[in-house]
Amino acid sequence: MKLKFNEGKFKILLFGDIHENHDYKTSLNFKDMQKLMNAALDEFKPDLCVLLGDNCNTGKYEENPEAFKEMVSDLVKPITSRGIPVASVLGNHEHDHGHEDEVVAVYGSIDGVIMRNDTPAEVTGNANFKELIYSSDGEKPVFCLWFIDSNNCHEDRNVSHYDFVHTDQIEWFEAESAKLKELNGGKPMPSFVFQHTPVPEEYELLRKAKLWEIPVSVKGYNSHSGTRYVGKKGVEGYVGEGPCSPDVNNGQFASWKKVGGVLGAFFGHDHLNDFSGFHDGIFMAQHKTAGFRAYTDGCRSCVRLVTIDEKNPEKFTHQLKRFKEFGLKCECLGPIFKRFSDRQSFYMHLFANIGMGVAGVAAVGFIIKKLIEHFGG
Ligand SMILES: [Fe+2]
Ligand SMILES: [Fe+2]
Repeated sequence: MKLKFNEGKFKILLFGDIHENHDYKTSLNFKDMQKLMNAALDEFKPDLCVLLGDNCNTGKYEENPEAFKEMVSDLVKPITSRGIPVASVLGNHEHDHGHEDEVVAVYGSIDGVIMRNDTPAEVTGNANFKELIYSSDGEKPVFCLWFIDSNNCHEDRNVSHYDFVHTDQIEWFEAESAKLKELNGGKPMPSFVFQHTPVPEEYELLRKAKLWEIPVSVKGYNSHSGTRYVGKKGVEGYVGEGPCSPDVNNGQFASWKKVGGVLGAFFGHDHLNDFSGFHDGIFMAQHKTAGFRAYTDGCRSCVRLVTIDEKNPEKFTHQLKRFKEFGLKCECLGPIFKRFSDRQSFYMHLFANIGMGVAGVAAVGFIIKKLIEHFGG
């Protein structure tokens, strides 16, 4: 499948953590997710869609490989039925049941779906690959899309909760980048990276919250858990939870800088975050879930469109659009929850916790009072 610029533009539509499950055929969550997918495809008419991993429960593969293939096919049908190609990375949950190679083969066997492993078997990961985008005239490759397997949890949770992209994967990326540079007349080929788990540098888009910002801040994850964070100035979108990046920095971001050409990196994994911004000249964007299976906030499930300009790839543009902004009616969430936006949901939880705390203190006071009356009297 040859990707190429279309009259000087190439549009990529991104979907984060859909987490579809076995009962999808009768599920309102699935129905709502497909409404979002259809609305976004109709409006944006992308040249390529990308799924950012944790797409479908791979436990189904173990139970019934054919049914698993049917679930993946049905998930992407709004895309493939429009003749639009869709590429996918592997998420940590695609690693959960230990059939990664088979799962990659299932994805790769569906018409219009791109997922494979280009690295030798001894290299870490089950789906490291790249796709080139050709010029509008189809003559030469001008842009590279990297799809990197960010693996599962780390085998030693004392080292890191989530695994990272391993050194042998980084070496493959660097060797392939050198070939592309040669192909591109000695200049690094401009590129994007797509992978499930974010790099640790995502925390560079955040800063420590000031005391008065604590109600709108998030607690850092794992090795960052002692600090509360808000987005730095210039960071767009919503910071809904501490990024769940690896606790070890294995130098992937540094490798992007060393090799050159990487303009942006796009991650899934965190179901509430959709913030984005630049760190050290590289754009990083987090994608919250585009579905309703994973934990989410109200009807804020969203997609992101990224548009690359063939003549000026450094000036790519991006936009987020949320379920409710498409004017869609949500059927799977209850009447209260679907009305709350991210920030409102946060305050709802905050006030609920305060209310529970007050009720708890009142209950303890009541019990103490009763005990004093009983024993004191
Ligand atoms: Fe996920
Ligand atoms: Fe994940």
